Amino acid sequence: MQQIKLNNGVTIPQLGLGTFRAKDNEAYESVLHALKSGYRHIDTASIYGNEEQVGKAIKDSGIPREDIFVTTKLFNSDQGYLKAKKALKRSLQRLDLDYVDLYLIHWPQSYELTADSYQAMEEMYLDGLTRAIGVSNFNFHHLEHLFETAEIIPQVNQVETHVFVQNHKLQEFCMKNGIYLEAYAPVASHEIERVLENETLSEIANKYNKSNPQIAIKYLLERDIIVIPKSVTPKRIEENIDLFDFSLMDEEIEKIDGLNRGRKLFPDPDNIG
Ligand SMILES: NC(=O)c1ccc[n+]([C@@H]2O[C@H](COP(=O)([O-])OP(=O)(O)OC[C@H]3O[C@@H](n4cnc5c(N)ncnc54)[C@H](OP(=O)(O)O)[C@@H]3O)[C@@H](O)[C@H]2O)c1
Repeated sequence: MQQIKLNNGVTIPQLGLGTFRAKDNEAYESVLHALKSGYRHIDTASIYGNEEQVGKAIKDSGIPREDIFVTTKLFNSDQGYLKAKKALKRSLQRLDLDYVDLYLIHWPQSYELTADSYQAMEEMYLDGLTRAIGVSNFNFHHLEHLFETAEIIPQVNQVETHVFVQNHKLQEFCMKNGIYLEAYAPVASHEIERVLENETLSEIANKYNKSNPQIAIKYLLERDIIVIPKSVTPKRIEENIDLFDFSLMDEEIEKIDGLNRGRKLFPDPDNIG
């Protein structure tokens, strides 16, 4: 599994398992199956309501804690300096862990509130409650404002990124500032059918004897993006990590570049409560 070194020296497996909409036993079973299949990176969030199940699967896997990279997120209603401090502690209790590997601001709020939350996160990072900190759903202006007050540059910006919303400019801006882009909804989430039915992806997939989702994920990996496809289906969990026996050619990457449409599937971060 390819590892990426973040700007603070911490390494993150480039491919992880997402857990959005994986409820209760589904989250437990999918995380356990993923860990058995070779995944070492799990993405959750307090708002997903499955941190307890994720934590239990990590324990039951028998894999040493330090070999697994765990991300969780600070939800909007928990933003603010004191609330953020309490929120991470509650997440750690639910996960039954002493620390997470990455703690993200889930969605930007007002610049002031976001800056206060981030200050709390910096302190919790220095206290060892999280090995890295970052943001999610941040656009250029959210990052620029954060830079005015932040003492620690975020390690990651997790944003909706897939073959139809490619985020080349945002990735360039993030990388220039030492921030890795992390792709959520990498196989187009609730619009997965668009990936499954896409002819350009099918043509490339046939050549390598792979599936369309595998090509969609591979495209992001080849762009140095961290990727967290979600599946609760054992066969798909295995399929989504079976990507390291081939490489895409430049002209195939160019063809996939041509699929960019820019219409996001998730809310506009500037218009969320
Ligand atoms: N920061 C944020 O605001 C934010 C927002 C959204 C998501 N996320 C994170 O990013 C992760 C991924 O995003 P997502 O869950 O929205 O979408 P996704 O990973 O792009 O797509 C998940 C959907 O695709 C299906 N699928 C996955 N692999 C497949 C395959 N090989 N063949 C056919 N179908 C396949 C899954 O079905 P089954 O599960 O039924 O197999 C599920 O319906 C989330 O789980 C979450 O951890 C973060």
